[in-house]
Amino acid sequence: MTHELIFATNNLHKLSEIQSIVGKNFTIKSLQEIGCTEDIPETAPTLEGNALLKAQYIYDRFGKNCFADDTGLEVEALDGRPGVFSARYATDGHDFEANIDKVLEELTGVENRKARFRTVIALILDGSVRYFEGIVNGEIISERKGIKGFGYDPVFLPDGYEQTFAEMPLDEKNKISHRARAVSKLVEFLNLKI
Ligand code: IMP
Repeated sequence: MTHELIFATNNLHKLSEIQSIVGKNFTIKSLQEIGCTEDIPETAPTLEGNALLKAQYIYDRFGKNCFADDTGLEVEALDGRPGVFSARYATDGHDFEANIDKVLEELTGVENRKARFRTVIALILDGSVRYFEGIVNGEIISERKGIKGFGYDPVFLPDGYEQTFAEMPLDEKNKISHRARAVSKLVEFLNLKI
């Protein structure tokens, strides 16, 4: 028997990535597949809050087991910013280039370049909420390197590696990334449930 889970996302790349990790015991469906075309609000002040808002929205309206994720880049010298505002740090849109420019500008002359990506997944299973967190530590370099990936990848150098996330082959990034770590905790939990 396969268990159905809604992933509160329309990012088909994330969806297929997760589906390939969870295997056949779970069928992961996107918002589109359940006919949810609304814009789910992401107005909470924390990653946990936003992940829960999205999952709760689906659970309340569709009554289906579901999960949602939220990710932020947390820069130590910037008191954890951009954090929950990572997507819209410089502008209201998802302007990756402007967001990178803003972080680099704020870090000009700053010695402490430590940063981390943090993903939080909120799962609602039969009404109970659980969180799964994935973190990758690294630093913000002073100039972009690489053209792969998205978001802050060109300026994020993960600890222990010599390539930024934008220089690394995607399969390598996917082994160590914040999202992969959060997802593997989710999958481990789900596998205990079947
Ligand atoms: P989301 O919650 O996955 O939509 O991520 C929010 C924002 O965090 C994105 O718009 C990106 O700016 C940033 N972000 C999330 N994951 C990554 C990543 O793997 N690399 C670079 N930036 C990321």
